[in-house]
Amino acid sequence: MINIDNVKIENNIILSPMAGVSDSPYRQICREMGSGFAYTEFVSTDGISHHSKKSIDLFRFQEMERPIFFQIFGNKCEVITEACKIIEDLNPDVIDLNMGCSVAKVAHKGSGAGLLRNPPYVGKIIESMKKSVKVPITAKIRIGWDHQSLNYKEIVHVLQESGVSCISVHGRTKSMAYTGVADWNIISEIKSFAKVPIFGNGDIQSFAEAKKRIAESKVDGVLIGRAAIGNPWIFSDIDKSTLSFFEIKEMILRHLALMTSFYGEQFGVVLFRKHVSKYLKNFRGVSELRHKLVTSENLEIFLNHLHQFDPDGFSFQTEQETENLSCETYVGV
Ligand SMILES: Cc1cc2nc3c(=O)[nH]c(=O)nc-3n(C[C@H](O)[C@H](O)[C@H](O)COP(=O)(O)O)c2cc1C
Repeated sequence: MINIDNVKIENNIILSPMAGVSDSPYRQICREMGSGFAYTEFVSTDGISHHSKKSIDLFRFQEMERPIFFQIFGNKCEVITEACKIIEDLNPDVIDLNMGCSVAKVAHKGSGAGLLRNPPYVGKIIESMKKSVKVPITAKIRIGWDHQSLNYKEIVHVLQESGVSCISVHGRTKSMAYTGVADWNIISEIKSFAKVPIFGNGDIQSFAEAKKRIAESKVDGVLIGRAAIGNPWIFSDIDKSTLSFFEIKEMILRHLALMTSFYGEQFGVVLFRKHVSKYLKNFRGVSELRHKLVTSENLEIFLNHLHQFDPDGFSFQTEQETENLSCETYVGV
């Protein structure tokens, strides 16, 4: 059990916030499968402070998702503070400040990972957020802007002094974006001196690897991002490669039903395309089905394709085979 002030977290493997992925339907699926809490996609504080419906809608959630962390991004203390007051009325358990987004149009404007370049201002923002709301304030960071400015010690210190209740650390710099590998030695080091709970994040591929990272780095928990897309089983001890087509299909249908009820039938099917493609990734015998599903224009067509599929020949592709296949594709044979 992890305590983030009065918020209790029972499981320590968690779905990482992902814009366009960790919406309410997918968070529900992942909570059911064991993710310890739900993190919303990041939402602009400019949008919130203008009461933009599009921004506010990103905070829609179901009670079963609790504990629910609302994640925000911005670069102006007054706007972030105002946004916190607005969203507290929507009853989150925690408000999290994004300090890790590396996308240029966010970070280069001083939001997301851009905040890492101004630790004193980060302190001012967190203190102001703390004063404006009652819920715990947390932050999700990277380890620095680049390797010439690895300032995670100063950032963690400032965050703690100004009152955050927990810090999530993606073990890359802003400059790395998603290249190279996450530095788990630094994540371990942060855990060794931090006074608040630490969630480590970066490159975890399986439930077993999550447990290993927790044991080795001693972090309180871990966040899984990319490897959880199309694989909610990663939060339980179920290895997706052992599942039958019918088990995968059952999850696809459940997820799709949540998507169409949340977004409406037409839009739900379109938004589900990226998920279904990942659900079927690494399986043999599904390339035609996958193509049909991601080009289905409505729910009826999608369901027809899925139900008509003959799963003979459906099996998991081992990594070796995947490598060979991509190599073959590369040389054009
Ligand atoms: C499509 C996508 C969207 C993301 N959106 C967010 C976001 O809204 N907020 C955030 O803090 N991190 C976001 N991230 C970063 C992830 O939460 C995570 O830190 C990163 O992917 C590293 O973890 P992984 O190696 O397990 O994927 C996003 C990542 C991806 C791939």
